[in-house]
Amino acid sequence: MEFPSPEIDAYLQELTPETSELMNEIEALALEQDFPIIGPLVGRILYQWTKVSRARTVFELGSGFGYSALWIAMALPKDGQIICTEFDKKKAERGMNFLERAKLRHKVIYEVGSALESFHRYQGPFDLIFCDIDKHDYPKALEMGVPRLRSGGLFLADNVLWSGRILNPDDRSKQTEGIRKFNEKIYAHPELFSTILPVRDGVSVSLKR
Ligand SMILES: C[S@@+](CC[C@H](N)C(=O)[O-])C[C@H]1O[C@@H](n2cnc3c(N)ncnc32)[C@H](O)[C@@H]1O
Repeated sequence: MEFPSPEIDAYLQELTPETSELMNEIEALALEQDFPIIGPLVGRILYQWTKVSRARTVFELGSGFGYSALWIAMALPKDGQIICTEFDKKKAERGMNFLERAKLRHKVIYEVGSALESFHRYQGPFDLIFCDIDKHDYPKALEMGVPRLRSGGLFLADNVLWSGRILNPDDRSKQTEGIRKFNEKIYAHPELFSTILPVRDGVSVSLKR
């Protein structure tokens, strides 16, 4: 099985209108550096859910150079705020620069270091949490995230179908096992109502009851 289907993916990419010169620039940079960003298909999902949930406060785990944060920041109200987290100082600096150029820097705090450690310093409650860190830490991020979400808030995560690797019983890697455990937890969690959208590499959307 090839997942995501290259034909469907190409079809959706072609349907999707361009967003801005800046987004094109960041997408080109990610391609050039072979750096995994969510891309416009998932970017639009983040934008949509941020708007629909009327989110004002967002915590992002794994921000890279700010591409996903830019989609969320565009959808936040004027007084909205997103806390970004990134191990790599250079990527964080680049991200701040892109957000500055988009005139959205005032909505963003960038924390350099471990996303999970930064999370300890923020009580929330958050309206939306987006998770895109190393996959073995997804279950831990969920465990920490749910108590920090307001009731009616959303926990979203990228790559939850992991190029279909979750279906391979021989794949017992830390990352794949992390995603498997995370997916089981979001459906079994008594406080969450979850769905997985098989768009691109799979996006989970969990509503806190
Ligand atoms: C998939 S990329 C994120 C891309 C970004 N969300 C986007 O779509 O534009 C993951 C990033 O998270 C960072 N990262 C992974 N695990 C992390 C952790 N536990 N704490 C902080 N940063 C982490 C990596 O350095 C990498 O830059």
